[in-house]
This record gives sequence, structure tokens and C-alpha cells, in this order.
Amino acid sequence: MNEDQAGALVQELGPATRFWVCDVSDTDSITAAVNGIVDWVEQTGVPLGGVIPAAGVGNPSLMLDKKLHPLPLSNLDFVTSINLRGTLDLVRQVLPHLAKSPAYGEDKEHGVVVMVASAAAFEGQMGQTSYAASKGAVASATLPMARDLSRYGIRVVTIAPSMFESAMTAMLSDKVRTGLKKAMEFPARPGKPEEFASLVRQAIENPMLNGVVIRLDGATRMPSKL
Ligand SMILES: NC(=O)c1ccc[n+]([C@@H]2O[C@H](COP(=O)([O-])OP(=O)(O)OC[C@H]3O[C@@H](n4cnc5c(N)ncnc54)[C@H](O)[C@@H]3O)[C@@H](O)[C@H]2O)c1
Repeated sequence: MNEDQAGALVQELGPATRFWVCDVSDTDSITAAVNGIVDWVEQTGVPLGGVIPAAGVGNPSLMLDKKLHPLPLSNLDFVTSINLRGTLDLVRQVLPHLAKSPAYGEDKEHGVVVMVASAAAFEGQMGQTSYAASKGAVASATLPMARDLSRYGIRVVTIAPSMFESAMTAMLSDKVRTGLKKAMEFPARPGKPEEFASLVRQAIENPMLNGVVIRLDGATRMPSKL
């Protein structure tokens, strides 16, 4: 969604990288991006290796607030349209291309789907009903998806991170950060992007990782509130 950041990243990583602006809550926008990627893949001759749907939004809201207003449906729709529907729609649209891509390796694999859940899938905090529901659904979708795709040699791995340094968590207040730190075991710090990337790499490279949700959290278990 962020053209400036994507452009800067492509500059940094070089010509082996491309980006397409894509709103995952808009199925036509996903189609346009996937078609663009498939054309590019054909030009490069490097086969499509998988998909990592990572778009996600928070938007905290209580199930029932102090004025007895229940959770707005717009909140639920906004969060699930990106975190759940957007994730599954992107994967859904990439799958036919993965199934047709050349098989590789001893097991004749056809690619890997790496989805992003959250510690909130298991210990959602106050105000996170929509977010936790969307991430819990992504976690729950992992095994049936792997079962559906096994006949095509496509694996599915979901990573459920606790707090990682990113644009999303940079917005957290010092109070929340201090509270989060108290919930951490070891290491008592937020995860680093390269630690997340290292697990993505393992998910891609290790054929025995399939149909699993892996917590990446240094034993942190989120409390009710911070
Ligand atoms: N950082 C954490 O502590 C943490 C913990 C658990 C899970 N996660 C999950 O990790 C993923 C990445 O989050 P992040 O921490 O890098 O946050 P981030 O805010 O930096 O990244 C989220 C990205 O989603 C994109 N996005 C939002 N709406 C979109 C839409 N409709 N279509 C396409 N893209 C859209 C944003 O442009 C942004 O680049 C998310 O799914 C998030 O829920 C993050």
C-alpha cells in the first residue's frame, strides 16, 4: 500500500525485486498484482516459489465499551477483511500459478505458503477481539489448507510472532512497551525483523515444516491488559 517505502526497498535490494501496489481487501487489486507478478516471473525465468501474505491491521476496540456500545461491525469487517479475507484471497489467487510452476527438490515441491498470525491468536488482549479472531482464524486455516494442498506439493506454515520491531509496534506508547516487557521471558526484548525473516527462510527450506503454526515469542505469554 505504501508506494514510497516499497520504492525505497526496491532501490536498496536492487533489480531482483519488484513491487505492485495492492489492497488485499479488494480482490481485483490482488488479481492485478498477481497477474503482474506472474508476467514478471515468466520474463525472469525464475519460477514462482510461494507467497507470504503479511498485510495486517490492529484497530483496537472493546467488545462493549463504558457507554454500553457494542463492538462496531465496521471494526470487525475492517480488520477481518485485511487480516483474514485478504490473507486467504491472496493465497487463493496465487495457488493455481504455484501448482503449475516447475517442481523442485527431492520431494518435487511446488512452493510454500507462509502466513502471519500473532500471539494474539492464543492470548488476545483487551480490545483485541477482532484482531485475535482474525489471527486465530489464520492459525486454524493452516492445517486444512496444508491438507488441501498436499496433493500439489505445496506446504503451508504459519508464524505467530509476539512483539516484533516494526512500523506497527513503533506506534506503541512507552507505557505499553514497559507493560509488554514485563510479560517477556527471555530474551526480554521485542523480536527483530531478521529473526522473523530467519524463520520464514527455514519454513521455505525445510520440507518437513508443513501444516504447523510456530510461535516466535521467546516464551512470552500476553496478559489481559498492559
Ligand atoms: N510487529 C508485531 O509485533 C507483530 C506481532 C504479531 C503479528 N504481527 C503481524 O505481522 C504482520 C506484519 O505487521 P508489521 O508488524 O510489519 O506491521 P506494519 O504495520 O509495519 O505492516 C503491515 C503492513 O500491512 C500493510 N497493509 C495494511 N492494510 C493493507 C491492505 N488493505 N492491503 C495491503 N497491505 C495492507 C501496511 O501497508 C503495512 O505495510 C501483520 O499481519 C501483523 O498483524 C506483527
